[in-house]
Amino acid sequence: MARLDVAETFYNIKFPGHMHTQDSLNYAANFKFQDTDTVIVTYPKSGTTWMQEIITLVLNKGDPTLARSQPNWLRAPWLEQYYCRQILQASTGPRIITTHLPYHILAPALRDSKAKVIYVARNPKDVAVSYYHFHKMANFLPDPGTFSEFLSDFLEGTVHYGSWFDHVKGWTDHAQNFQKFLYITYEEMCQDLHGSLKKVCRFLQCSLTEEELKFSQKHCSFNSMEENIMVNYTLIPQEIMDHSKGKFMRKGKIGDWKNMFTEEQSDVFDAVYSAQMADSSQLFKWEYF
Ligand code: A3P
Repeated sequence: MARLDVAETFYNIKFPGHMHTQDSLNYAANFKFQDTDTVIVTYPKSGTTWMQEIITLVLNKGDPTLARSQPNWLRAPWLEQYYCRQILQASTGPRIITTHLPYHILAPALRDSKAKVIYVARNPKDVAVSYYHFHKMANFLPDPGTFSEFLSDFLEGTVHYGSWFDHVKGWTDHAQNFQKFLYITYEEMCQDLHGSLKKVCRFLQCSLTEEELKFSQKHCSFNSMEENIMVNYTLIPQEIMDHSKGKFMRKGKIGDWKNMFTEEQSDVFDAVYSAQMADSSQLFKWEYF
Protein backbone atom coordinates (compact mmCIF):
# COMPACT_ATOMS: atom_id res chain seq x y z
CA MET A 1 0.00 0.00 0.00
CA ALA A 2 1.23 3.53 -0.80
CA ARG A 3 2.50 5.50 2.18
CA LEU A 4 -0.18 7.69 3.69
CA ASP A 5 2.08 10.05 5.61
CA VAL A 6 3.57 11.95 2.66
CA ALA A 7 3.28 15.70 3.26
CA GLU A 8 2.07 18.37 0.85
CA THR A 9 3.94 21.63 1.40
CA PHE A 10 2.18 24.96 0.82
CA TYR A 11 3.60 28.35 1.87
CA ASN A 12 6.34 26.38 3.63
CA ILE A 13 3.80 24.60 5.84
CA LYS A 14 3.29 20.83 5.75
CA PHE A 15 -0.21 19.40 5.30
CA PRO A 16 -1.23 15.72 5.26
CA GLY A 17 -0.82 14.72 1.62
CA HIS A 18 -3.59 12.18 1.67
CA MET A 19 -6.24 14.91 2.08
CA HIS A 20 -4.47 17.94 0.59
CA THR A 21 -3.16 18.71 -2.88
CA GLN A 22 -1.66 21.89 -4.35
CA ASP A 23 -4.94 22.27 -6.17
CA SER A 24 -7.08 21.92 -3.02
CA LEU A 25 -4.85 24.32 -1.08
CA ASN A 26 -4.97 26.89 -3.88
CA TYR A 27 -8.73 26.46 -4.07
CA ALA A 28 -8.93 27.36 -0.37
CA ALA A 29 -6.55 30.30 -0.60
CA ASN A 30 -8.62 31.78 -3.47
CA PHE A 31 -12.03 30.77 -2.20
CA LYS A 32 -15.03 33.01 -2.85
CA PHE A 33 -16.78 33.28 0.49
CA GLN A 34 -20.45 34.13 0.70
CA ASP A 35 -21.83 36.51 3.30
CA THR A 36 -23.99 33.68 4.67
CA ASP A 37 -21.00 31.39 5.32
CA THR A 38 -19.96 30.47 8.86
CA VAL A 39 -16.28 29.62 9.07
CA ILE A 40 -14.80 27.64 11.97
CA VAL A 41 -11.09 28.40 12.26
CA THR A 42 -8.79 26.40 14.52
CA TYR A 43 -5.31 25.09 14.96
CA PRO A 44 -5.68 21.25 15.08
CA LYS A 45 -6.76 19.71 18.39
CA SER A 46 -8.26 22.92 19.71
CA GLY A 47 -11.93 21.88 19.68
CA THR A 48 -12.72 21.90 15.96
CA THR A 49 -15.04 18.87 15.98
CA TRP A 50 -16.72 20.17 19.10
CA MET A 51 -17.53 23.52 17.47
CA GLN A 52 -18.79 21.73 14.34
CA GLU A 53 -21.19 19.81 16.60
CA ILE A 54 -22.21 22.91 18.57
CA ILE A 55 -23.07 24.81 15.40
CA THR A 56 -24.98 21.84 13.96
CA LEU A 57 -27.07 21.61 17.12
CA VAL A 58 -27.65 25.35 17.39
CA LEU A 59 -28.79 25.62 13.77
CA ASN A 60 -31.09 22.65 14.32
CA LYS A 61 -32.47 24.01 17.60
CA GLY A 62 -31.14 21.10 19.63
CA ASP A 63 -32.53 18.42 17.29
CA PRO A 64 -29.73 15.80 16.96
CA THR A 65 -31.07 14.16 13.76
CA LEU A 66 -28.49 15.74 11.43
CA ALA A 67 -25.66 15.42 13.96
CA ARG A 68 -26.43 11.70 14.24
CA SER A 69 -26.89 10.98 10.55
CA GLN A 70 -24.21 12.94 8.67
CA PRO A 71 -20.45 12.89 9.37
CA ASN A 72 -18.99 16.18 10.55
CA TRP A 73 -16.68 16.42 7.53
CA LEU A 74 -19.73 16.48 5.23
CA ARG A 75 -21.75 19.01 7.23
CA ALA A 76 -18.77 21.31 7.88
CA PRO A 77 -16.07 20.34 5.35
CA TRP A 78 -12.46 21.44 5.66
CA LEU A 79 -11.94 24.06 2.98
CA GLU A 80 -8.39 22.99 2.20
CA GLN A 81 -9.14 19.28 1.79
CA TYR A 82 -9.57 17.90 -1.70
CA TYR A 83 -13.21 16.78 -1.40
CA CYS A 84 -14.49 20.19 -0.23
CA ARG A 85 -15.17 21.68 -3.66
CA GLN A 86 -17.52 18.84 -4.55
CA ILE A 87 -19.41 19.06 -1.27
CA LEU A 88 -19.89 22.80 -1.48
CA GLN A 89 -21.03 22.59 -5.09
CA ALA A 90 -23.76 20.20 -4.05
CA SER A 91 -24.80 22.17 -0.97
CA THR A 92 -27.79 24.44 -0.75
CA GLY A 93 -28.44 27.01 1.96
CA PRO A 94 -26.00 28.59 4.41
CA ARG A 95 -22.67 26.79 4.54
CA ILE A 96 -20.55 25.80 7.51
CA ILE A 97 -16.92 25.65 6.49
CA THR A 98 -14.01 24.48 8.62
CA THR A 99 -10.36 25.39 8.18
CA HIS A 100 -6.99 24.91 9.88
CA LEU A 101 -5.29 27.40 7.56
CA PRO A 102 -3.24 30.16 9.17
CA TYR A 103 -4.34 33.77 8.82
CA HIS A 104 -1.74 34.80 6.26
CA ILE A 105 -2.90 32.13 3.80
CA LEU A 106 -6.65 32.60 4.14
CA ALA A 107 -6.98 36.30 4.97
CA PRO A 108 -6.81 37.65 1.39
CA ALA A 109 -9.81 35.50 0.43
CA LEU A 110 -11.77 36.09 3.62
CA ARG A 111 -11.00 39.67 4.58
CA ASP A 112 -13.58 41.53 2.54
CA SER A 113 -16.42 39.10 3.05
CA LYS A 114 -19.15 39.35 5.64
CA ALA A 115 -18.83 35.65 6.49
CA LYS A 116 -19.04 34.86 10.20
CA VAL A 117 -15.72 33.67 11.59
CA ILE A 118 -15.51 31.61 14.79
CA TYR A 119 -11.99 31.16 16.11
CA VAL A 120 -11.51 28.45 18.77
CA ALA A 121 -8.23 28.46 20.71
CA ARG A 122 -6.95 26.08 23.38
CA ASN A 123 -4.14 26.06 25.90
CA PRO A 124 -1.18 25.14 23.68
CA LYS A 125 0.21 22.67 26.20
CA ASP A 126 -3.01 20.66 25.97
CA VAL A 127 -2.98 21.08 22.18
CA ALA A 128 0.53 19.61 22.06
CA VAL A 129 -0.48 16.59 24.15
CA SER A 130 -3.66 15.96 22.17
CA TYR A 131 -1.77 16.39 18.89
CA TYR A 132 0.94 13.96 20.01
CA HIS A 133 -1.62 11.24 20.78
CA PHE A 134 -3.41 11.96 17.53
CA HIS A 135 -0.15 11.45 15.59
CA LYS A 136 0.08 7.97 17.05
CA MET A 137 -3.30 6.90 15.70
CA ALA A 138 -3.44 8.93 12.47
CA ASN A 139 -1.49 7.09 9.81
CA PHE A 140 -1.59 10.18 7.57
CA LEU A 141 0.68 12.02 10.03
CA PRO A 142 4.35 11.22 10.56
CA ASP A 143 5.54 9.07 13.45
CA PRO A 144 5.88 11.67 16.26
CA GLY A 145 8.79 9.89 17.98
CA THR A 146 9.01 10.46 21.71
CA PHE A 147 6.89 13.16 23.34
CA SER A 148 10.06 15.16 23.90
CA GLU A 149 10.93 15.00 20.18
CA PHE A 150 7.41 15.94 19.20
CA LEU A 151 7.36 18.85 21.64
CA SER A 152 10.52 20.29 20.08
CA ASP A 153 8.90 20.14 16.64
CA PHE A 154 5.73 21.70 18.01
CA LEU A 155 7.64 24.57 19.59
CA GLU A 156 9.64 25.10 16.40
CA GLY A 157 6.45 25.12 14.37
CA THR A 158 7.65 22.38 12.03
CA VAL A 159 4.69 20.05 12.70
CA HIS A 160 1.87 19.69 10.15
CA TYR A 161 -0.26 22.85 9.85
CA GLY A 162 2.68 24.93 11.07
CA SER A 163 3.26 26.99 14.17
CA TRP A 164 0.59 27.21 16.86
CA PHE A 165 1.98 30.63 17.81
CA ASP A 166 1.67 32.05 14.29
CA HIS A 167 -1.81 30.60 13.94
CA VAL A 168 -3.22 32.07 17.14
CA LYS A 169 -1.44 35.40 16.80
CA GLY A 170 -2.35 35.73 13.14
CA TRP A 171 -6.07 35.25 13.64
CA THR A 172 -6.59 36.96 16.98
CA ASP A 173 -4.40 39.99 16.23
CA HIS A 174 -6.42 40.66 13.07
CA ALA A 175 -9.89 40.03 14.48
CA GLN A 176 -10.79 43.67 13.81
CA ASN A 177 -10.38 43.04 10.07
CA PHE A 178 -13.54 40.96 10.11
CA GLN A 179 -17.04 42.30 10.36
CA LYS A 180 -18.20 39.25 12.32
CA PHE A 181 -15.62 37.49 14.45
CA LEU A 182 -16.18 35.34 17.56
CA TYR A 183 -13.23 34.31 19.69
CA ILE A 184 -13.89 31.48 22.11
CA THR A 185 -11.66 29.07 23.97
CA TYR A 186 -11.85 25.33 24.49
CA GLU A 187 -11.48 26.04 28.21
CA GLU A 188 -14.54 28.30 28.22
CA MET A 189 -16.54 25.61 26.41
CA CYS A 190 -15.45 23.03 29.03
CA GLN A 191 -16.17 25.26 31.99
CA ASP A 192 -19.46 26.70 30.78
CA LEU A 193 -20.93 24.81 27.83
CA HIS A 194 -24.35 26.34 28.39
CA GLY A 195 -22.94 29.88 28.34
CA SER A 196 -20.78 29.03 25.31
CA LEU A 197 -23.83 27.73 23.44
CA LYS A 198 -25.66 30.97 24.21
CA LYS A 199 -22.67 32.94 22.96
CA VAL A 200 -22.69 30.98 19.68
CA CYS A 201 -26.48 31.46 19.40
CA ARG A 202 -26.13 35.24 19.79
CA PHE A 203 -23.31 35.34 17.26
CA LEU A 204 -25.25 33.28 14.70
CA GLN A 205 -28.43 35.19 15.53
CA CYS A 206 -30.34 32.01 16.38
CA SER A 207 -32.67 32.23 19.30
CA LEU A 208 -33.12 28.95 21.13
CA THR A 209 -35.51 28.25 23.97
CA GLU A 210 -34.07 27.04 27.26
CA GLU A 211 -35.22 23.53 26.38
CA GLU A 212 -33.55 23.65 22.95
CA LEU A 213 -30.37 24.86 24.63
CA LYS A 214 -30.51 21.96 27.07
CA PHE A 215 -30.89 19.46 24.22
CA SER A 216 -27.99 21.06 22.39
CA GLN A 217 -25.87 20.87 25.51
CA LYS A 218 -26.73 17.22 26.04
CA HIS A 219 -25.84 16.22 22.47
CA CYS A 220 -22.54 18.07 22.33
CA SER A 221 -21.29 16.87 25.69
CA PHE A 222 -18.12 14.76 25.60
CA ASN A 223 -20.02 11.58 26.56
CA SER A 224 -22.59 12.01 23.85
CA MET A 225 -20.04 12.87 21.13
CA GLU A 226 -17.83 10.00 22.19
CA GLU A 227 -20.71 7.65 21.29
CA ASN A 228 -21.69 9.43 18.08
CA ILE A 229 -20.07 7.66 15.12
CA MET A 230 -20.69 10.77 12.99
CA VAL A 231 -18.07 12.65 15.01
CA ASN A 232 -15.88 10.10 16.78
CA TYR A 233 -14.11 9.16 13.51
CA THR A 234 -14.71 5.42 13.92
CA LEU A 235 -16.19 5.56 10.40
CA ILE A 236 -12.65 6.20 9.13
CA PRO A 237 -10.99 2.92 8.09
CA GLN A 238 -8.39 1.40 10.37
CA GLU A 239 -5.56 1.88 7.85
CA ILE A 240 -6.11 5.66 7.96
CA MET A 241 -6.88 6.03 11.67
CA ASP A 242 -5.75 3.15 13.81
CA HIS A 243 -8.38 3.01 16.52
CA SER A 244 -6.45 0.31 18.35
CA LYS A 245 -3.77 2.94 19.06
CA GLY A 246 -6.07 5.54 20.57
CA LYS A 247 -9.40 7.30 20.41
CA PHE A 248 -10.14 10.58 18.66
CA MET A 249 -12.45 11.53 21.54
CA ARG A 250 -9.57 10.87 23.92
CA LYS A 251 -10.06 12.68 27.26
CA GLY A 252 -11.68 16.03 26.58
CA LYS A 253 -10.15 17.66 29.66
CA ILE A 254 -8.46 20.90 30.61
CA GLY A 255 -4.92 20.50 31.93
CA ASP A 256 -4.06 16.97 30.76
CA TRP A 257 -0.63 18.40 29.90
CA LYS A 258 0.22 18.08 33.60
CA ASN A 259 0.16 14.28 33.19
CA MET A 260 2.59 14.42 30.29
CA PHE A 261 5.04 17.31 30.67
CA THR A 262 8.10 17.11 32.90
CA GLU A 263 8.88 20.24 34.91
CA GLU A 264 11.74 21.00 32.56
CA GLN A 265 9.57 20.64 29.46
CA SER A 266 7.02 22.96 31.02
CA ASP A 267 9.70 25.58 31.77
CA VAL A 268 11.09 25.39 28.23
CA PHE A 269 7.56 25.69 26.86
CA ASP A 270 6.84 28.75 29.01
CA ALA A 271 10.05 30.43 27.86
CA VAL A 272 9.27 29.82 24.17
CA TYR A 273 5.67 30.91 24.76
CA SER A 274 6.76 34.21 26.32
CA ALA A 275 9.21 34.94 23.54
CA GLN A 276 6.82 33.99 20.73
CA MET A 277 3.78 35.75 22.15
CA ALA A 278 5.61 38.92 23.26
CA ASP A 279 4.44 40.76 20.14
CA SER A 280 0.82 39.67 20.46
CA SER A 281 -1.70 42.30 21.42
CA GLN A 282 -3.92 39.71 23.11
CA LEU A 283 -3.93 38.40 26.66
CA PHE A 284 -4.58 34.70 26.84
CA LYS A 285 -5.85 33.36 30.12
CA TRP A 286 -4.79 29.76 29.88
CA GLU A 287 -5.44 27.68 32.89
CA TYR A 288 -1.79 27.24 33.72
CA PHE A 289 -0.99 30.93 34.21
P1 A3P B 1 -8.12 15.44 23.74
O1 A3P B 1 -7.21 14.71 22.80
O2 A3P B 1 -7.38 16.30 24.71
O3 A3P B 1 -9.12 14.56 24.41
P2 A3P B 1 -10.07 18.74 17.26
O4 A3P B 1 -11.50 18.44 16.99
O5 A3P B 1 -9.70 20.17 17.04
O6 A3P B 1 -9.16 17.79 16.55
O7 A3P B 1 -9.83 18.54 18.82
C1 A3P B 1 -9.90 17.27 19.42
C2 A3P B 1 -9.87 17.45 20.93
O8 A3P B 1 -11.14 18.00 21.35
C3 A3P B 1 -9.69 16.12 21.67
O9 A3P B 1 -8.98 16.48 22.85
C4 A3P B 1 -11.15 15.77 21.94
O10 A3P B 1 -11.31 14.82 22.98
C5 A3P B 1 -11.69 17.14 22.33
N1 A3P B 1 -13.17 17.22 22.26
C6 A3P B 1 -13.98 16.93 21.24
N2 A3P B 1 -15.26 17.04 21.61
C7 A3P B 1 -15.28 17.43 22.92
C8 A3P B 1 -16.30 17.67 23.87
N3 A3P B 1 -17.58 17.55 23.58
N4 A3P B 1 -15.92 18.01 25.13
C9 A3P B 1 -14.61 18.12 25.46
N5 A3P B 1 -13.59 17.88 24.60
C10 A3P B 1 -13.92 17.53 23.34
